[in-house]
Amino acid sequence: MSTRFSTGCSGAITDVRASLRQATATDHERLDALFGRFRLSEAADYRAFLTAHAMALPAIEAALDAAGFADALDDWPARKRGAAIAADLSALGAPVPAPLAAPALVSRAAQWGAAYVVEGSRLGGALLARSVPADLPKSYLGSVQPPGNWRKFLEKLDKALSLPQDITHATESARATFGLFEQAGLRVRGAMD
Ligand code: HEM
Repeated sequence: MSTRFSTGCSGAITDVRASLRQATATDHERLDALFGRFRLSEAADYRAFLTAHAMALPAIEAALDAAGFADALDDWPARKRGAAIAADLSALGAPVPAPLAAPALVSRAAQWGAAYVVEGSRLGGALLARSVPADLPKSYLGSVQPPGNWRKFLEKLDKALSLPQDITHATESARATFGLFEQAGLRVRGAMD
């Protein structure tokens, strides 16, 4: 289901966002196809989907924490969803997997690129949450943010990355972040198929 470019968009199309979106379009398409294979209406597949995300998202969040990303984005701590995935897994009686090794986020621009991917993933998450039956826990996919938070994020992203090399670093790191989710999805899916 490749719906990202056909649904219009939430939030303004800023220059930096347009650039990251364009540069990661094929990465997103691959992930969309990979995670689209998990039938979220079935508990076992949903658990596997959350397990894969729990291998990637907390790793990126911890790397952003360690890099001091809250200095760049003040509400970063409130945006994190690692605890929400762990809560869902535990409610489903599933263990929380060990995180994969996150890409190095040495520059501020690289940190923004990774944050773009994890914040952007909420947009698809909201759509996916609709497939999860009402009796299953969905703190992660259903996690709600104050209105306008994505727009606020994009405005800050746009201001933070003003140089061409910033965009280059952010793009590399955004692609590596997509790559981490892909690695996690392939591992979990490989163990199921
Ligand atoms: C089956 C899985 C997925 C589906 C169906 C999906 C779907 C979508 C949709 C519909 C949007 C656009 C929403 C809008 O513009 O209003 C979107 C945006 C986005 N998604 Fe996904 N997504 C999936 C998985 C992921 C994953 C795993 C990640 C990253 C870890 C991700 C990262 C992003 C990003 C960064 C954007 C924002 C792009 C922009 O700047 O507009 N998505 N996704």
